[in-house]
Amino acid sequence: MQAVHRYQIAAYIDSHETIPFEELSKRSGLNLVDLRRILRLVMTRRVFCEPRPDHVAHTAASWLLVEDSRVRDLSGIICDERFPASARVVDALMMYGQPQSPAESGFSLANQTKRGLYEELKHFPARQARWTLAMSAMAQKIDFDYILENFPLRSNETATVVDVGGGNGTISLGLARRLPNATFLVQDAPDVIHDAKVPEDLQSRIMYQAYNFFQPQPVSGARVYYFRNVFHNWPDDTCVQILKNHVGIMEGHTILVIDDFALHEPLTVSPYEERRRRNMDITMLTYFGSRERTIREWGKLLAMADVRFRLQGVAQHGKQPNTILEVGWSV
Ligand SMILES: C[S@@+](CC[C@H](N)C(=O)[O-])C[C@H]1O[C@@H](n2cnc3c(N)ncnc32)[C@H](O)[C@@H]1O
Repeated sequence: MQAVHRYQIAAYIDSHETIPFEELSKRSGLNLVDLRRILRLVMTRRVFCEPRPDHVAHTAASWLLVEDSRVRDLSGIICDERFPASARVVDALMMYGQPQSPAESGFSLANQTKRGLYEELKHFPARQARWTLAMSAMAQKIDFDYILENFPLRSNETATVVDVGGGNGTISLGLARRLPNATFLVQDAPDVIHDAKVPEDLQSRIMYQAYNFFQPQPVSGARVYYFRNVFHNWPDDTCVQILKNHVGIMEGHTILVIDDFALHEPLTVSPYEERRRRNMDITMLTYFGSRERTIREWGKLLAMADVRFRLQGVAQHGKQPNTILEVGWSV
């Protein structure tokens, strides 16, 4: 797939076109012998097909690489960021033991940097932009009904939701369509929120704010502070620090919603889900030296941050990779 991505093979074939390998080799610049053997391998995953001998055409999967720039970005980060990082993850374990910071990761070794992924990407704007768009490609796939069934707001309730580490706001946009009286404040790094686009009809209800969650949360009085796929990027001590930075805004009615991949007991979900969740767990190790957590581990983490955090709701579903935790405050 790295060859498909780097040579932009998908872009050289029109949607209903069937072309000889030779012609594709000329268009893309990848030599004929290796183009043919590489494509015949990715075809086993239904990426491109060979409808007649020595000819190539798109499948639905390969066409997505042309049609949807976010899928292209996702494929790009898997090939250019994750692939080299995966090759160094065991080296990182041997070097650091159990990683204690994002800089003790396969990603940092592969990039020959002392910085973790988010810090490193700040120095490479094109990679940073691609990363953010790829995350929003993943966010687009999510099941909003599942979130809303487990979200502590009724559909007509008037309330403010702070979307902490909300990326470019894809999730808040989706929630805002379904919660017509709620207002959303998306917080993330300045370069991540910089180019965010909000449709005109939502502009009065979606705001953005640059915020570094290693500082105390500056916004008090919101009903919900929503963290989606944020904590799994960080080792335990860092998660505790982020949680402590929210102690100052907790009141009796404040709720933290933690919506994260969570681990389950082995062999309690389908093989597909088992692979998907374990894969994400190791992806977190690779990129950030971090991990997914079980419900029990979440309880411990909250208690380490402050004993007044109260885990008052847990939603888990066999077909949903994310677990939604509702955390209140004991006054
Ligand atoms: C895996 S993404 C999740 C984005 C979004 N919540 C979603 O579910 O699609 C994690 C987000 O945390 C943000 N982030 C990382 N470090 C941060 C920091 N120190 N302060 C605020 N946001 C940060 C990243 O920029 C990124 O957008």
